[in-house]
Amino acid sequence: MSLWGGRFQEGLHPAFDSFNRSLPFDRRLWPADIEGSRAWARAHVAAGSLSTREGKRLEQSLAKLAKELSKDDSSLRASAAEDIHSYVESRLVDDLGPLGKKLHAGRSRNDQVATDLRLYCKQRVTELDATLVALMAALVTLAEREATTPLPGYTHLQRAQILTVGHHALAYVEMLARDRSRLADAAKRLDECPLGSGALAGTGFPIDRKALAKDLGFRRPARNSVDAVSDRDFVAELLFVAGLSAAHLSRLSEDWIFYASQEAGFLELSDAVTTGSSLMPQKKNPDSLELIRGKGARILGRLTGFLACLRSLPLAYNKDLQEDKEALFESLDTWEACLTVARLCVEGARFDAARLEAACLSGYLNATELADYLVDKGLPFREAHDQVGQLVRLGLERGEELAEIPLDLAREISPVLDKAFVKALGIDAVLAHRRSQGGANPRLVKREVQRWKKELAKEKP
Ligand code: ARG
Repeated sequence: MSLWGGRFQEGLHPAFDSFNRSLPFDRRLWPADIEGSRAWARAHVAAGSLSTREGKRLEQSLAKLAKELSKDDSSLRASAAEDIHSYVESRLVDDLGPLGKKLHAGRSRNDQVATDLRLYCKQRVTELDATLVALMAALVTLAEREATTPLPGYTHLQRAQILTVGHHALAYVEMLARDRSRLADAAKRLDECPLGSGALAGTGFPIDRKALAKDLGFRRPARNSVDAVSDRDFVAELLFVAGLSAAHLSRLSEDWIFYASQEAGFLELSDAVTTGSSLMPQKKNPDSLELIRGKGARILGRLTGFLACLRSLPLAYNKDLQEDKEALFESLDTWEACLTVARLCVEGARFDAARLEAACLSGYLNATELADYLVDKGLPFREAHDQVGQLVRLGLERGEELAEIPLDLAREISPVLDKAFVKALGIDAVLAHRRSQGGANPRLVKREVQRWKKELAKEKP
């Protein structure tokens, strides 16, 4: 059954029919479409444009359909309907006859689809938030276990200063916390009900839109009917939130792919998230992390693609807007899968403490510490920096780390040096010295772990 046959004499060309139909992808909106339709029936009863009995029968039929679909959606999958709205209405007419045809009065698929999609997003935001929290919790657990495990920190991918595995993991927890707050912020803005806006100009029935919005769990009705049916900012925002968070996951992947390389050897991923090679028997490849990195690109593509679509649209509804759904569904599904697989990677990761310690002892990661040491002895920092630079050069020539250079030779470059400097350059001393708030000092990292644990415990249902 088509919703709009009256004006037409001929059917659609099959090629255009499949081009036009959205049911193959918008069918996942069925719970929202049924919920919205039930609320619309109630709103009509309240407005006096449907009798209480009619409203009840419509609601019962919709509830029956929901029950059927949650058990078995094969009729939905097999349907030739144009979209989910046509499908639900056709089932209503099949069930109730003429009464089924009454429900759409004063409503358009334009306000209907905007409402359905917002209801869907609200539900997805809750699920995605929980998935974010689960990954954060896994990272916090890792940070607790490895709060004191040293890790070479890099800038420009050159060894820079000593960190700990825990401190590095908590950096990603910070990013994910910002992703959560962006998600919550987007959710606040999308929490408006378009229903009752009609096709674009409002509805001719005395619908109480405030009550309708409340009935559907929205904060308030959308204020402007033209905006209500044309606005897809909320889709673009969620694509951005997903895209940025996926970028965070991609950076984590990038770090860990390197850590898992033989060159670094800092980390071994579990068998559950790695694959072998069909040819090379020795291989254990970090496909999970590579796919997280790769799939993030899709979300960015969806974001830019959808913004390009949106920017060219005159008000109000245009069919281009139907493109919102595949962009949204694919991006949120992909983001969710990336979050889940990232959590599995984190949960199964084994860091090699001996290898990490050895790595922290080579490559002059303690050069800054030595400069600080000289400053403590009274040298201006610039001079200290220069002297340590010369010591590094000497070390490179002699094949020695800073602490290995014989004191008499070192003193030729830096006369204030005493023999205590060797101890000051040890991993533990260097880490303990990074004591400013937010620094890599294990004591501070442990404190942060406790703070995060408390914060995340609040989220448990
Ligand atoms: N399937 C359509 C969409 O997703 C529903 C709205 C159709 N509205 C219309 N005026 N043709 O956007």
